[in-house]
Order: sequence, then structure tokens, then C-alpha cells
Amino acid sequence: MSQLLTLPDGNKMPLVGLGMWQTDDPTELENAVDAALEAGYRHFDTATLYKNEDKLGNVLKKWLDSGRVKREELFIVTKLPWTAMAPERVELFLNSSLRKLQLSYIDLYLMHWPIGLQFRGEEDLVPMEGDKILYDTSTDLEAIWKELEKHVESGKLKSIGISNFTEKQIERIMKVSKIPPASHQVEIHAYFQNRKLRECSEKHGITLCAYGPLGSPGRDPKGFPGMNFVVPNLLQDPVILDIATKHRKTGGQVLLRFLVQQNVVVIPKSTNPQRIQQNISIFDFELSTVDMRRIEALDKGDAGRSFPGFPDMRNHPECPWFL
Ligand code: A2P
Repeated sequence: MSQLLTLPDGNKMPLVGLGMWQTDDPTELENAVDAALEAGYRHFDTATLYKNEDKLGNVLKKWLDSGRVKREELFIVTKLPWTAMAPERVELFLNSSLRKLQLSYIDLYLMHWPIGLQFRGEEDLVPMEGDKILYDTSTDLEAIWKELEKHVESGKLKSIGISNFTEKQIERIMKVSKIPPASHQVEIHAYFQNRKLRECSEKHGITLCAYGPLGSPGRDPKGFPGMNFVVPNLLQDPVILDIATKHRKTGGQVLLRFLVQQNVVVIPKSTNPQRIQQNISIFDFELSTVDMRRIEALDKGDAGRSFPGFPDMRNHPECPWFL
């Protein structure tokens, strides 16, 4: 199968990318990007909120300057943060991402979340007063989308998309868009297959990108005070291990192949060179219909979510889900 997915705007997105969330040690991160480029990755998924666009930019510049990779071979994704969720602030944050990435255009730019926080300066990405997050409840998703479309016309963005949107929010964007969203990035994995939301995206021709495709085994619930959740142990699921043994692959490879075989882009995060290599080596085997059905049957619905969201977010009228 092809390693590229054609987006509704005609641009091509590699089906496997390197997820860069939860990676902030600068040396570890630069080594991971280097290892990924060596392993053949051309798609990198970062965000303003991850505060590592500059590190990615440094490694990309090294590879571009040495001629080991051409700009048109790369697919760079970054995202508008909460504090940029107002039409008049989009350009400021977009320019800042371009500067940090040392690029003249971004391949795919997403609204990271459908909610906004108050703006108190470019570097203050989570403005707080005491222990209270300062929400901007006037977020106008349609107006922000129109602003993103302008930057496709200006050439700074090749494709635009959304992340963590609900079905209703998708419908609203579809009503006003001249350029429909090319991609929707949401949590999808074997325990949380997110069927209804996927159907809604697909009905509109919007492609899907799965974050947490391995169930986010590295997530530490301590980072979510006041919340009670258990990180699923997908990689040790007996069905996954059984199928992996049959194909002489790892559980991780089976979980990723399960999604790309449905044309869902995956962005597993790893800083370990062996696992980075492993996660893109999924195009030399195929899951049978029976394998696919067995993994489909592992879906736990909402109970399978490994990303519970931020509890405080329900103070915003566009909060995508309640816990
Ligand atoms: P590490 O960086 O040490 O490889 P997700 O993308 O679902 O959020 O999962 C990311 C987590 O899964 C990270 O903790 C990462 O750790 C780990 N991981 C990434 N690839 C694999 C793999 N092939 N097998 C097992 N664990 C993996």
C-alpha cells in the first residue's frame, strides 16, 4: 500500500509521522528527529503548545542545508494554541511558528482545540490568575477558519485542518468553509475507535489523523490533578499480542497497521531510535479481514479513551467533551 494519503485539497500526507507531544528534553528531541529522518520519516507533528518547534526547526535546517532532504519531501504539521483562537491573533502565532521552524510555509496547520484562552503575550500559552485558567469564552470558530483560509491563499499554509472538534463543530465549519478541513486530528486507537466522530469527518471527505495510536502508554495521570483515569495497556492486550506473533511483528506495529490500513494517519510519539524505526516499518505486512475484525471488537467506546481532556476546560462553551 502507498505510504501517502491524498488529502481533499490534493496535497499528500505521509501515513506515519513522528508525534512530538510529551517530548521536551532538547537533546533527546533533536536526536529523535534525526533518528526519524534516518529511518525515513518525512512527517513531523508538533504544536505551539509543545514548545519544541524551534528544536524541530534546527534539525530540519541541518538536513535541508546539507541536501539530505528537500523541503517538498517534508510534511510539517503544527497547531494554533488556545491563546491564538481569535482571528486577529492567527497571523502573529503563524508567523512565530514559521520563524521557530525556520520554514517559509507549513504543510498542515490545525486549530489545536476548539476553545480559546485570554491573550496576555505570545509566550504566555496558559494564562492563569492564581490557580484559575483564564478562558476567552468568545471563541468564534467560523471566523478563525476564514482567517486560516486567507493564509492558504497567501501561501503560508498548504493545508488546514482541525483537532479535537465535535460533530456539531465540524458541521458548522463545513457550512462556512470555502476550503473544507483537510484533516481532523483526534484520539483513535484499538480501545477507543471513535466511530461516530470518524463517520462525521469521513462523510465530509475530511481525512483522519490518530493521536495516541498506541493508547499513550507514557501518559502520567499525575499530570492531570483531580482526575481519576487509568492508562490502557493496549500493547499487552492478548488479542494484539496473538496477531503480532502470527505476523512476526510487535504489538505496536499491529496497532499502527490496524489504523493505516483504514487510511487513518498515525503519529506515534517515540524518542527511542529502535521504536522510531519499528513504528514506520509497517508497510511490509497486511492484517487479514479476520485480524481487523478481532481488533475492531476491542473497542471500549468512551471508556477506552486514554486522553481525558482537561477538567477545567468545561468552563468554555465550545468544550468538546465532558468527563
Ligand atoms: P518511547 O518514547 O520511550 O518510545 P502514543 O503515541 O500512543 O501517545 O504513545 C507514545 C508512548 O509509547 C511513549 O511513551 C513511547 O515511549 C511509547 N512507544 C512508542 N512506540 C512504541 C512501540 N513501538 N512499542 C512500545 N512503546 C512505544
